[in-house]
Amino acid sequence: MRQEFEKIQSVRGSLKLCGDKSISHRAVMFASMADGVSHIFNCSESEDVSSSIACFEKLGCTFVRKGDTVTVTGKGFKGFSKPKEALYAGNSGTTTRLISGILCAQNFETEITGDESLSRRPMTRIIWPLRLMGARISGNENGMLPLYIEPPFSLKPVNYRLQIPSAQVKSALLLCGLHIEEETAILEPVATRNHTEKLLGLRVEPSALGKKIYVSKKNYPQPFDITVPSDISSAAFFIVLTLLSKRSEIVMENLSVNETRTGIIEILREMGAKIEIEDLRKEKGEDIGNVRVLSSKLKNVPIPESLVPNIIDEIPVLAVAGIFAKGNFKITNAKELRIKESDRIKSLCQNFRRAGLDVKEFDDGFELIGEASERNTMFESFGDHRIAMAFGVLSMLTKEGGAVNDFECAAISNPDFMKQVKSLAQSSKI
Ligand code: S3P
Repeated sequence: MRQEFEKIQSVRGSLKLCGDKSISHRAVMFASMADGVSHIFNCSESEDVSSSIACFEKLGCTFVRKGDTVTVTGKGFKGFSKPKEALYAGNSGTTTRLISGILCAQNFETEITGDESLSRRPMTRIIWPLRLMGARISGNENGMLPLYIEPPFSLKPVNYRLQIPSAQVKSALLLCGLHIEEETAILEPVATRNHTEKLLGLRVEPSALGKKIYVSKKNYPQPFDITVPSDISSAAFFIVLTLLSKRSEIVMENLSVNETRTGIIEILREMGAKIEIEDLRKEKGEDIGNVRVLSSKLKNVPIPESLVPNIIDEIPVLAVAGIFAKGNFKITNAKELRIKESDRIKSLCQNFRRAGLDVKEFDDGFELIGEASERNTMFESFGDHRIAMAFGVLSMLTKEGGAVNDFECAAISNPDFMKQVKSLAQSSKI
């Protein structure tokens, strides 16, 4: 479906975004593992989280959704039943990699498949370290889906240093570690999102080489109730839209402002953005606040390598902000972008060229030179939700508007994106 966008004059109002996708995935998984009934309030309604739910249904768990509340009946330690068919993870890397850590410990075999995009993403990053724990997991000849997982002969704890700054890899190992009596220790040299450790209440200690996270069967989840904070990665599109629209001001309530996710706010503030976090509080160890954003003048700033994992999902929309900011937008040390839902470096460079910018593509990033055209441009989503919404935002900031092809993929993380855009643009007319 091609989505047309008109130039937005200004945006005003308050926005309630759906639950954070990363936290919702984990809440669904931990509730499924727990023995009994859990409630997830403000659970993400994204297609990705629905993929996680569908996989755990096939493993014998029950889910009842009423609005944004999901009631889960979990199966307890090793209580899952052998699925009748392959588990289908759709477009979701988080579903695939995290559930693998759990399935490696079960006493039945499973197969995991996914859509075309997910089937092109690397799985050796979890296969190799999970095998060190005794897991019997393999992918196809290229180390990609389908994944085949067999019951382990025995699992053993590891003392493992992460080779890639990836919360998905870290979480796969931690979830496998939940099935072992003895303690596993994962050393994380570069910080990545820490929702797994926070929700499971794991012990985390600083070390000379980074953070060490400890897990054992003692940490296996019990039934719980959680209100998921709203999704900062979905908020990022509205933050950039507001900053760059005239006479605009929005408030997003109950947003996740976990320090491993707020790099986008940190960088935008350094660029000159007026963003305030109000009413800061905690829910199950997670920081939550109301985020107020006002129209601002921006300038580009260097992006430190250590912050790249923190902003990895926000880089597409940050680059859009960068083309309206003084100076050139440049990002490097971000090779991981090449193996997301699309090759995001390629997708971004192609779309920015269409917008009339002079683009330098690097192996691990890109630089944008010049000004975006005011003409109506047709962009491609490349089937990638964050590319779709980033160029939706660019279109709404362009004099003649624009269009994004295959926009329906936005539902992978935010099925309500267009509704939310309309609600804010409408209130600007009041
Ligand atoms: C996620 C981790 C990140 C992120 C993804 C969600 C998670 O991936 O890009 O959208 O929920 O753990 P990596 O861990 O591969 O960097």
